[in-house]
Amino acid sequence: MKRYAHIIGWGKYAPDRILTNDDLSHMVDTSDEWIRTRTGIRTRHLISEGETTATMSIRAAQAALEVANVTPDQIELIIVATSTPDYLTPSTSCLVQDALGATRAAAFDLSAGCSGFVYGLSVASGLIRAGMYDTVLIIGAETVSTFIDWTDRETCVLFGDGAGAVVLQASESAGGVLASVLGADGSGAEMLYVPAGGSRRPTCADTVAQGLHFLRMDGRQVFRFAVNVMPIASRQVCEKAGLSLDDIELFIPHQANDRIIQAAARALQIPAERMFTNLERYGNTSAASIPIALCEAVESGLIKRGDHLVMVGFGAGLTWAAAAMQWSMPWPVPPQPWWRKTLRWLHYRWARLRSWALRTLRRLDVEIRKPFNHEMEGESQSQREERVK
Ligand code: UT7
Repeated sequence: MKRYAHIIGWGKYAPDRILTNDDLSHMVDTSDEWIRTRTGIRTRHLISEGETTATMSIRAAQAALEVANVTPDQIELIIVATSTPDYLTPSTSCLVQDALGATRAAAFDLSAGCSGFVYGLSVASGLIRAGMYDTVLIIGAETVSTFIDWTDRETCVLFGDGAGAVVLQASESAGGVLASVLGADGSGAEMLYVPAGGSRRPTCADTVAQGLHFLRMDGRQVFRFAVNVMPIASRQVCEKAGLSLDDIELFIPHQANDRIIQAAARALQIPAERMFTNLERYGNTSAASIPIALCEAVESGLIKRGDHLVMVGFGAGLTWAAAAMQWSMPWPVPPQPWWRKTLRWLHYRWARLRSWALRTLRRLDVEIRKPFNHEMEGESQSQREERVK
């Protein structure tokens, strides 16, 4: 029996703190007028103390699981698409797995810049169609604000923080993710990158003094690349899915710059209304932009059951990605009974307790071993050699 991968749940999270263009005009030499006319952005959300890529991912994931009416222990794989993880290692997806109490789930992060969410959707739908998993959680989440040089007007006005998530599930009904197109061109790596903090230039006082841990971007080059690649990837994915551009009720492009989105609409010869935009309020949230936009498009009634969508993105790498899908969920989603919400709440409390207990047990384990470790430290070279023999 043929398997299909359907989005059955979606959720988003944007931090409460809002930074307006006027706020930025007090920080760097810019103006509301310049930012609005060159990018279309008016405000963006930024994390507050205690918020991270993982905490935002968890909030978005919880919302998506609620819509999907799926419990965390049904999830078999968690993919977090991000370029701004909590740590270099472990992956942010493991932190999400722990907080959700998704005890059966494998977890990994996916780094494909702003194309990351569509890359993740493509990988997950392939795994579902191949029969490896039935239920996968895919999250796009970024705290770009922590990698921004807030004195660089060419980048700091563009980005925002946020997270979006979907639950993808196997079904025998036709529809869901129909086709995807992924691409990369690493010759453009330095067009959009963080020069230090990796193995090539590990963080040291010098790299910090030079600000090499901040995002660097050649805006004009990225703009040209985006305007070129978005229509090509959109056409390719439609062709692969056996659809014409006219079959697509709504395009959900990466929310980087309104001028890029309008240029793509012109190149595809589709009316601007068929390109969903919300970057006015969020700015560019990188890998989170498409799932956040998808949530808003669904929740504003723009996507109906049976509609065809194309999600298309581009970003650091350089990378690009497009996915064509047929939407299969109703909106509004029927409300859940109170007891289901209570069970969900209890599950997340239990997950916290479980995590705490496991951490404590590990700590106790270390305490129990300590005298043994001291013993080891005290032994002489010859004693150690004798023991190893
Ligand atoms: O997710 C992928 C991430 N990145 C992107 O998608 C970025 C793609 N690129 C862009 O969106 C646009 O290239 C930008 C919005 C970054 C810049 O717009 P632009 O129309 O390409 O401007 P520009 O770089 O050609 O700069 C025009 C002028 C320059 O001044 P001069 O040399 O003409 O005197 C800049 O210094 O605008 C100046 N400028 C600013 N002025 C006020 C650059 N940034 C600012 C600013 N406020 N924030």
